Amino acid sequence: MLWSDPAATFGSPVRTCEVPNSTYSARSNWITHMSSTSPLRVAVTGAAGQIGYSLLFRIASGAMFGPTQPVILHLIEIPDEKALRALQGVCMELEDCAFPLLKGTVATSDLNAGFQGVNWALLVGAVPRKAGMERKDLLGINGKIFTSQGQAIAQHAASDVRTLVVGNPCNTNALIALSNAPGVPRDQFFAMTMLDENRAKTQLAKKASTDVTGVTNLAVWGNHSTTMFPDFFNAKINGRPVPDIIGHREWLEKDFLTTVQKRGAAIIEARGLSSAASAANAVVDTVRKLTTPTPTGDWFSVAVCSDGSYGIEKGLMFSYPVRSDGRKWEIVQDLPVNPFSQAKIAATEAELKEEKALVAELLPR
Ligand SMILES: NC(=O)c1ccc[n+]([C@@H]2O[C@H](COP(=O)([O-])OP(=O)(O)OC[C@H]3O[C@@H](n4cnc5c(N)ncnc54)[C@H](O)[C@@H]3O)[C@@H](O)[C@H]2O)c1
Repeated sequence: MLWSDPAATFGSPVRTCEVPNSTYSARSNWITHMSSTSPLRVAVTGAAGQIGYSLLFRIASGAMFGPTQPVILHLIEIPDEKALRALQGVCMELEDCAFPLLKGTVATSDLNAGFQGVNWALLVGAVPRKAGMERKDLLGINGKIFTSQGQAIAQHAASDVRTLVVGNPCNTNALIALSNAPGVPRDQFFAMTMLDENRAKTQLAKKASTDVTGVTNLAVWGNHSTTMFPDFFNAKINGRPVPDIIGHREWLEKDFLTTVQKRGAAIIEARGLSSAASAANAVVDTVRKLTTPTPTGDWFSVAVCSDGSYGIEKGLMFSYPVRSDGRKWEIVQDLPVNPFSQAKIAATEAELKEEKALVAELLPR
């Protein structure tokens, strides 16, 4: 098909992106004939938001799927004039980067068009918690968003679609999306805890005065919330158990855990805005780790639909130590869990059960 497309033959290949003002239908502008590899279609919701602004450029540059994989970005926003104007600006900047791998954009507020044929759905957009809002209120508002997104994914996405939920509360939002996406296998849904893993690795590396690449086997268990448990007992520094390298047990059990669990709040306090570039980086890391083989003996953190492993209630979206062969993933089994870890894991599971109960009416399957 190289150059057989009239647009490519008779005109210069054009990449444009329009966000309609009055109607919200999608416009796809696309060049698919310049590479022998078919482009992957990647949907990003909340595309005009903070995380979107970092994430889209990383995907388009090849950081997520590698330097030879073309992509078509589906940018999804709410049908709000300000958001769509901002999205238009993002599209203009994407054009201005002239990314060789970016083969098209679809910018829309229509979910059906937005998820049409996508291979990956990165669900970033969500309503932030506002002053005076109860957790139940937030779960209810965002629950409705993830209900309709799950339905649209089931109806319109490619059969191999994999969905990663980032918008908070991401574990339970992922559970809602999964539960409203009949026909899409449960093992194709994920919620992001990689930012917590990355934060934990850096704190351990700093404490041990070593390079962050020396920290491996760091699993975050449970919910992406202050109850998460970054498991320092099973983590390693340069191949040795963390407690052998960092002998200061009180620091590990208190300061370390609190620093990681409350890092998001510390960033808001310092920056006046929530973490965005590091969150986008964690989205890139999660997708890369799911789509490339995990180094022998290592694992990474992502929330998946529990199959009952480690005694966790089946069906909860629970962050586990996970390995991938580049296509399929599995929960790492039989890691030692001591009484300290068990108590932490039980607390984060209890929180997820509570969240699930609050959205029970949004979970049809
Ligand atoms: N899992 C994690 O580790 C992690 C880390 C950081 C942030 N987050 C969460 O990610 C989400 C996005 O953060 P942000 O900083 O980009 O927020 P932001 O407010 O800057 O942007 C959110 C964007 O989503 C859009 N949006 C809202 N509802 C939408 C919908 N139904 N469909 C499409 N778009 C919609 C908004 O218009 C906005 O542009 C938040 O929920 C945040 O709490 C998760």
